[in-house]
Amino acid sequence: MKILSLLIVLNIFFLSTNNDSEIYNTVNQETELQKSMKRGKEVYSDMCATCHLPNGEGVPKVYPPLAKSDYLMQNREESIRAVKYGIRGKIVVNDVEYKGIMASLGLYEDEVADVMNYITNSWGNKNPKMITEEEVIKIEKK
Ligand code: HEC
Repeated sequence: MKILSLLIVLNIFFLSTNNDSEIYNTVNQETELQKSMKRGKEVYSDMCATCHLPNGEGVPKVYPPLAKSDYLMQNREESIRAVKYGIRGKIVVNDVEYKGIMASLGLYEDEVADVMNYITNSWGNKNPKMITEEEVIKIEKK
């Protein structure tokens, strides 16, 4: 009887540790992007929200929207370049023309990646391919 209950206890122990590691793995897979987005959100509130507004809607004809922005979601490289080096001159975002200036924001490459992951996965935007620091490093000034 003692042996039987010992076996049951051991079994429960192994089952529960197994489950834990499975849950741990699943959580871990998600967190790369989630962690980056969390850091990116901080960067966004500090550096971007004054113009593009906290919910990314922007100000028509003055500050382009990031929420559901066709420009942002269809021009991955140009958008990273804009955040890395700044952008000026005519651009069209969701059929509205902008002729403004966004100065370089002086972010580190990892911060550019984080804020890009945040804005391309917020307010209805969905980016299937995570942006990495390496990808940002490779993008050169035009
Ligand atoms: C001083 C105001 C200002 C700040 C701060 C600012 N932007 Fe911009 N942003 C602009 C303007 C103006 C444009 C359009 C420039 C043009 O007309 O060529 C723009 C364009 C963009 C674009 C490309 C157009 C689009 O809507 O998809 C992206 C992406 C972008 N900004 C992201 C950011 C991010 C991320 C930050 C913070 C790290 C930031 N901006 C901070 C004013 C600003």
